[in-house]
Amino acid sequence: MTNKVDTPHRVPVLWGGRLAERPEAEAFAFQASIRVDSRLAMEDIEGSRAHAAMLARQGVIPPETAAALEEELRRIGEELAAGTLAIDPEAEDIHSFIEGLLTERLGDSGRMIHAGRSRNDQVAVDLRLYIKRAISLVREELAETLGTLLDTAEAHLDTIMPGYTHLQRAQPVTLAYHLSAWACALSRDRDRLWDTLERLDECPLGACALAGSTLPLDRDRTARALGFKRPTVNAMDSVADRDFALECAGALSILMVHLSRFCEDISLWAGEEFGFIRLAESWSTGSSIMPQKKNPDFAELIRGKAGRTAGNLVTLLTLLKGLPYAYNKDLQEDKEALFDSIDTARTCLRMFRGMVSSAAFNRERMKAACAGGFLEATDAAEYLVRKGMPFRRAHETAALIVRDCIAAGQASIRERTLEELQGRSELFAEDLYPLLDPAVSVRRRDLPGGPAPEEVKRQIEKLRKLLC
Ligand code: ARG
Repeated sequence: MTNKVDTPHRVPVLWGGRLAERPEAEAFAFQASIRVDSRLAMEDIEGSRAHAAMLARQGVIPPETAAALEEELRRIGEELAAGTLAIDPEAEDIHSFIEGLLTERLGDSGRMIHAGRSRNDQVAVDLRLYIKRAISLVREELAETLGTLLDTAEAHLDTIMPGYTHLQRAQPVTLAYHLSAWACALSRDRDRLWDTLERLDECPLGACALAGSTLPLDRDRTARALGFKRPTVNAMDSVADRDFALECAGALSILMVHLSRFCEDISLWAGEEFGFIRLAESWSTGSSIMPQKKNPDFAELIRGKAGRTAGNLVTLLTLLKGLPYAYNKDLQEDKEALFDSIDTARTCLRMFRGMVSSAAFNRERMKAACAGGFLEATDAAEYLVRKGMPFRRAHETAALIVRDCIAAGQASIRERTLEELQGRSELFAEDLYPLLDPAVSVRRRDLPGGPAPEEVKRQIEKLRKLLC
């Protein structure tokens, strides 16, 4: 073998005693994770401080040692935050880096920190702490985005537009209603993330490699010190489990699918064929060749990034599916996918918000789109039902009238004379006509969950309350 190198980094590895030889530089870098897990530095410091304090209380290490360790960890945290200490990119992982630093600075005291601990429970606790924070931040972004949607909805309670099924105009609704539908989805995303938080709120510290420790650790104490509700139940589960990562990536990928669908609507609406929305120039991009273009790139990119978060979820699921219990190095691959989903969701929420809050909606185009598609056909059928006709016959009668209109080149049932309508059913009378107006149709759909402006106002209030 050529080019055998010594430990290719300043900080020694944690497992140097057992192996007489070290991997070569490229192989060492391959198995290292510092590039990705350095973002767990603060959580690692926090976990180590709680661990050191607990070890002293339990008489495993002297109190002065714990005090020195805690003080040094605090200092390392400050130096990292201030940028006066750089993370060594050649270290194996963040856990090795910080333990190495403690040893370098404190000698044997540093060598005491890892008693009753393994990187297996250490990384699990770091990751849970990190996700807890990250989820709170995403939930805040979600709350702000919901606020934007609900404010916009409130301004458009009476803005009539077509509601679609199969991308065909179906029945009149309002823009407020459509935006509230989006808001409901985002509100569920906030709930889902909350559920994830609740379930992950257990502390794996003290699980050690997989089987706990012979040392008298106090797991309740470290759990409490780190703000967890309780310690995890089973040590083996604690180091093998990544459900919290899956749930987080799952909830985020559902959230991204929601944003993606909204963005699909926005892209359609921004096109000349719809013309429902005018995106701000600062939230659009142009073409390098076609001088006239104004493209909804932000909406498209958010839609595209939903593919990325779905991919991250699949990465995690696939990573776990064949893993024997308990810890395996494969688990090191969990972080990149998870961090990417968190970053992507947070950024996309901000971008989505910016794009929507700066957009202008074209009320005339939306209203005009309600004409000509026979959106009033269901109202006509329900008119007959109210007069006693069985619904299936009423449906057929209204359908035949639509066919009559098409044959006569008419764009709406309103264009039929009463005599013509009565030719299809005696039950029709003058009082039908006002009901066929899109605004009236929307106002009459005032059941709970319906598009009537008063009802949508209630929906908006309900959704706002959930934000408190
Ligand atoms: N860097 C590792 C990870 O991210 C830490 C745990 C390593 N444990 C081990 N036994 N190799 O999962």
